[in-house]
This record gives sequence, C-alpha cells and structure tokens, in this order.
Amino acid sequence: MIAEQKTILVTGVNGQLGQSLMLISVKYPQYQFSFTGRDDLDLSRTDSITDYFQQNRFDYIINCAAYTAVDNAESEPELADKINHIAVKKLAEVAKEHEATLVHISTDYVFDGTSHRPYIETDNTNPQSVYGASKLKGEKAIQEIKPKGCIIRTSWVYSEFGNNFVRTMLELGQDREQLSVIFDQVGSPTYAKDLAQAIMTIVQSNQLNDSSETEIYNYSNEGVCSWYDFARTIFEIKGITCAVSAIETKDYPTAATRPHYSVLNKAKIKQVFNIAIPYWKVSLAECIGNIEG
Ligand SMILES: NC(=O)c1ccc[n+]([C@@H]2O[C@H](COP(=O)([O-])OP(=O)(O)OC[C@H]3O[C@@H](n4cnc5c(N)ncnc54)[C@H](OP(=O)(O)O)[C@@H]3O)[C@@H](O)[C@H]2O)c1
Repeated sequence: MIAEQKTILVTGVNGQLGQSLMLISVKYPQYQFSFTGRDDLDLSRTDSITDYFQQNRFDYIINCAAYTAVDNAESEPELADKINHIAVKKLAEVAKEHEATLVHISTDYVFDGTSHRPYIETDNTNPQSVYGASKLKGEKAIQEIKPKGCIIRTSWVYSEFGNNFVRTMLELGQDREQLSVIFDQVGSPTYAKDLAQAIMTIVQSNQLNDSSETEIYNYSNEGVCSWYDFARTIFEIKGITCAVSAIETKDYPTAATRPHYSVLNKAKIKQVFNIAIPYWKVSLAECIGNIEG
C-alpha cells in the first residue's frame, strides 16, 4: 500500500455504476478502493450499516447502491424507503462522524416532468413515483446532515452490465421484426462509464473536501432524445433491421408514473469541475462496442 493512499468505499458493486467504477478504478492507483455488495453491507438493515462502519473507515464513500426497481417500488414502498432514504441518512451520519466525503447518486425522477427547459439543480422537485419520492427523501436527509460531499442526479443509465434499455433493445431487436417504443418521454441517456469517470474527476479535484453544503449536481450525457429515438439509434449503430413504432406512454401502462420530460441541465457540474461530457450517441456507440467485445 502506498503511504498516502486515500481510501474509497463503493457500495452497490454489482450494479451498473458500481461495476463501471470497478472497471475504471485501475486507472487510479493513488486510491485504495473497497467494493461492497449487499452481502458485506446490507443497506436495508441499519444494524448492518452500523456494524460495517464500526469495523471500516474510509476517506470517501461513493453510494452506487439503491433500490432501482421503479415499478416494483410502487408495491414495496417500505423497502424502497429503507434503501433509498433511511440507509442514505445513515451513510450521511457516518460520513459526517468519520469526516468522510460522501458522493451520492440520485435521479431525474425527483421531477414531475412538466418543465419546458432542462432542469437545473434548484428547480422544484415533485416526484411522481414511490421510487422518485424515496430518492428525494435520501437527498433531503443528506442535505440536512451536511456531510462533506455531493449529490449527483443522473438519468437513463445504461452500461455493459445488468439490465438496462440498451441491452434489452439489443436482445429484443435480434429476435423480433417490430417493436413499439414510447416517444413521449424525453430525456438524456447516461453511459455509466462516463458517470463513473465524472465521479472520479470530482473526487480527484479535492473540491468536495471543504464544502459546507452538500451541493447537488446534474450529470447525464449531452443531447436529448425520446426512448423511441434511443431504440432507433441502438439499432442503427448495431445494423439491426427491426422496425420501431412510436407509441404513447398511455399505450404502455406501467405501475410507476415517469416524467414526460426529464432533461437535466449540466452547466453547473461542467463549470465547477471542468468536466467535458460526451454526446450521447458517441457514448452509446462505445458501450455497444464494449458489449460486442
Ligand atoms: N438506472 C437508471 O436508469 C438510473 C437513473 C437515474 C438514477 N439512477 C441512480 O443511479 C445509481 C446507480 O444506479 P444503477 O443503474 O447502477 O443501479 P443498479 O444497476 O440497479 O444497481 C443498484 C445496486 O444496488 C444494490 N442494492 C440494492 N439493494 C441493496 C441493499 N439492500 N444493500 C446493498 N446493496 C443493495 C443492488 O444489489 P444487487 O445487485 O445485489 O441487487 C445493485 O447492485 C442509483 O442511485 C440509482 O438510483 C439510476
């Protein structure tokens, strides 16, 4: 171990962002990473969190774990609350007590989607789903406790890992001649690897270490599309001939209500941390290349 190595805990190692951070962590030998899944640190149990942090201390906690099953959350609000709110509150308390820096990830689903311009961090929140409400409570708990660190709101995350829209479309597109995809939900996709990179740029900047407020920052890839455009672009890149029909949200009912418009304005994160954000189609092509590889 290098003498001055800072330690970083990454929760949710088996998720998209956790896996992406693990992948890029080799580029940061100046940090000693610990990656945890629910077996080591079960965020649905306060005693598990307490026990874990009695044994372990870190300079940074990057919380990639979350209850992310947006539709299931409608029928499991207590579990969603435990992981997305109560556990986040506990992590914020631990971070404050241990003087660790907390990087927490939140969501565009804290907004109701009625805006006509990209959301800035200070816009009014109004979640339309149990998931969005639980994530907002997590944000608010952090902002009350005020550990060093930040909250990053992101949207439409995809990667080489786990279940996500890109992998689902690649599978369905190979099997089917036609698919119907919603065109009246508009947002910005986020390649988890780009977000992981942005997180490490923020950590490396050391700018979080003397912040008195836990600021919120938006991050997604650049550009805007509907799920319909997203699906068509996946097929174009991959040369899949599956036809795509544009349908309305009302034609594809889901348990949870999703915002019709959830584009995030990234001016703040770009300016404060000098982050260059890739265009969504460029990152999508990179991800599809990595899935093929
Ligand atoms: N995916 C999106 O489109 C999206 C959009 C906006 C914001 N976000 C936010 O971005 C962050 C990362 O999302 P992601 O896409 O990487 O999520 P993900 O792939 O669903 O990963 C979430 C991880 O959390 C873990 N987890 C769930 N319950 C846990 C518990 N009780 N204890 C410990 N770990 C637990 C899961 O473990 P298992 O693997 O064992 O289930 C999973 O590995 C989350 O905060 C999410 O809310 C995601």
